[in-house]
Amino acid sequence: MMKYNFDQIINRSNTASIKHDLKEMIFGTPEILPLWVADMDFETPDFVRKAVVDRALHPIYGYTFRDNAYFESIIHWMQRRHRWQIEKDWILFSPGVVPALNMAVMAFTEPGDAILVQPPVYFPFFSAVNDHNRVLLQNELVCKGSRYEIDFDDFEQKAQQAKLFILCSPHNPLGRSWTRDELQKMADICLRHQVLVLSDEIHNDLVLPPFKHQVFADLSPEVAGITITMHAPSKTFNLAGLATSSVIISNEILRKKMKAVLSRVHIEMGNVFGIEATKAAFNEGDEWLDQLLVYLKNNISAVADLLHHELPSLRVFIPEATYMIWMDFNFTQLSDEALHEMVFKKAGVGLNKGSDFGPGGSGMMRMNVASPLETVMLGAQQLAQTFKTF
Ligand SMILES: Cc1ncc(COP(=O)(O)O)c(C=O)c1O
Repeated sequence: MMKYNFDQIINRSNTASIKHDLKEMIFGTPEILPLWVADMDFETPDFVRKAVVDRALHPIYGYTFRDNAYFESIIHWMQRRHRWQIEKDWILFSPGVVPALNMAVMAFTEPGDAILVQPPVYFPFFSAVNDHNRVLLQNELVCKGSRYEIDFDDFEQKAQQAKLFILCSPHNPLGRSWTRDELQKMADICLRHQVLVLSDEIHNDLVLPPFKHQVFADLSPEVAGITITMHAPSKTFNLAGLATSSVIISNEILRKKMKAVLSRVHIEMGNVFGIEATKAAFNEGDEWLDQLLVYLKNNISAVADLLHHELPSLRVFIPEATYMIWMDFNFTQLSDEALHEMVFKKAGVGLNKGSDFGPGGSGMMRMNVASPLETVMLGAQQLAQTFKTF
């Protein structure tokens, strides 16, 4: 029985929501169903809202720090959900995973060092390399039938030149939940060539059963020794606006280096609401998350089924994790510019441009299905209606 209601349509206009309030600016028309930026149109769970409201009722929002209960909530969550045993000292704070990626690039590399990424991938990975004058190496993921896989020969060749590898696990936008075997192979190559790994695991709680998440650092003590893990409650519990995330490092030498950069930019305090929200989410969130995953899986199947029947030429990649669906519009033979124009202006659906995710992204689009079923079905119908003449 579903205790939580994910069907409720909530008006997010005028809440300074990037997804909703900036849609006209981004897509050039107000007539857009926004299924792009990676937050959800579901309520942040009631127990999280209660924690924030309770804190807000105290009339003073002064300087703050993260208490023991905050760390305990993360430690227990990782143990319960991911069988990963971590210690309080390993957990550092960053307002976001993207800032943490950039600070890790500063902490562990020098200008001119090479950094490896696996496109098509979450685009801030590229800026984390390019904005700091590091050299971008790309191990393009390969589409094999219904899913993407890793070209390990190419990975090893590039790893030989790389100082750092930014892993997206699970992978956004391709929705892969990497297997233990795939992760182990990448880890072995990184160990062989002394490549450090930034493992962005922000989507790790959103692995859709029966797939299971394997924490990269938990493959072995050796792998933990070269890994910096990024995690947050923001995607899982829809609280990105509270800007609270973690960098988890067991290797003391690496941790000191990361801490030095974090301290240098003085962003370690965080905010009172993010701290309380994190505790509530991780302490009370199991049942809500389990139900969310069921709902997301159903949305994914419903959208995929509709598109399969109405628009059979469109290739839809069923995600193993995340609430993003990667779609291949190359059957239209449109240029990216013309494709975007049709998706935004004709279909009226605000999807992410595949081309923003780097090589392999041309002709592709990413759809966010973390909205009520009615909304995502409307988006899928509008796409089918517009593209069925091709
Ligand atoms: C792989 C990945 N990392 C990081 C983020 C965002 O992290 P943050 O909002 O904590 O900076 C996203 C959001 O979509 C993401 O997909």
